[in-house]
Amino acid sequence: MRYSTILGIESSCDDTAVAIWHKGKILANITAGQDIHREYGGVVPELASRAHQSHIIPTLNQALKTANIAANDIDAIAVTQGPGLMGSLLVGLNTAKGLSIALQKPLIGVNHLQAHIAALYIENPEPEFPLLVLLVSGGHTQLILVTGFTEMQIVGTTLDDAAGEAFDKAAKLLGLPYPGGPHIENRAQSGNPKAFPFPQASVPGFNMSFSGIKTSLLYFLQKESKTNTGFATDNMADICASYQQSIIDYLLGKTKKAIKEYNPKTIALAGGVSANKSLRKQLSELGAEHNLPCLIPAFEYCTDNAAMICMAGHFLLEKGDTTGLEALPFSKTLHNP
Ligand code: KG4
Ligand code: ZN
Repeated sequence: MRYSTILGIESSCDDTAVAIWHKGKILANITAGQDIHREYGGVVPELASRAHQSHIIPTLNQALKTANIAANDIDAIAVTQGPGLMGSLLVGLNTAKGLSIALQKPLIGVNHLQAHIAALYIENPEPEFPLLVLLVSGGHTQLILVTGFTEMQIVGTTLDDAAGEAFDKAAKLLGLPYPGGPHIENRAQSGNPKAFPFPQASVPGFNMSFSGIKTSLLYFLQKESKTNTGFATDNMADICASYQQSIIDYLLGKTKKAIKEYNPKTIALAGGVSANKSLRKQLSELGAEHNLPCLIPAFEYCTDNAAMICMAGHFLLEKGDTTGLEALPFSKTLHNP
């Protein structure tokens, strides 16, 4: 290995994150969140990029301090190049370019979605390929057949909303804060997952759709509230548990079908929604049923973080895949060539 220390920067949405990878270990993984979006029920792009501006240097300094390394010890700078919010991406990318110029070290532009998958390798450096990955985040939901550390093929994708979006939009309808996933999960813990039926979209093959479930929740709440204005509050736990389970059933159904078709050696979960404990448990059970190991990142590597950017950067650097200083943020998602 010609290099031993990688600095990673992530700023694609509303988390400013900096991490340091050293010889296969994560020495620092610092994230500064942005509470300013809470009252809007979603991320406000202009506020996000402004907050990144004020968070990026303190987060960088904190990461260097935590890892106990000097800026001069860094061998390469990996940064999220896309997809994400343009203003947010620019803050991270321009900071990475500045460091690359000042330290005279290579820049590596990383695809955020590939990085969510790379998060799996932080604790599992030698997975058995092919891996069938269920990638569930706030902006994307895909089933991906991964044949190597940087080789992958999309098997199925959502045709509209992402699974995380379905959680976030439901939370908004229920008057819960943004991001909604953790709040719905929290309420669901004491609820009955079979209390209310939510329909699942019928989409052929391995593609998915989540826009209908949110709409069915909206109509359901409107109908029930006509006779009982306190319906949502009175039944919050059961609504959350049933809604969450319906999303999980849908995701697991598609994954099960893909296991049969693609015969992976391992299954895995990645992206922000993989922080959901019920989903983690039920996907592990699905793996056990099929005698397949199931890889799931530790909680700190599930939602957006920079450790996963270091990890993805490491694999690209091994292939000599560095990025020029003319690089711009991109909006491309994962797609097949
Ligand atoms: O990967 P991520 O941090 O950001 C994107 O790249 O989109 O994912 C954020 C998404 C949000 O929609 C959030 O509600 C969801 O992940 N999420 C969860 C949980 N924690 C985060 N969804 C369900 N249960 C959770 N515990
Ligand atoms: Zn993400």
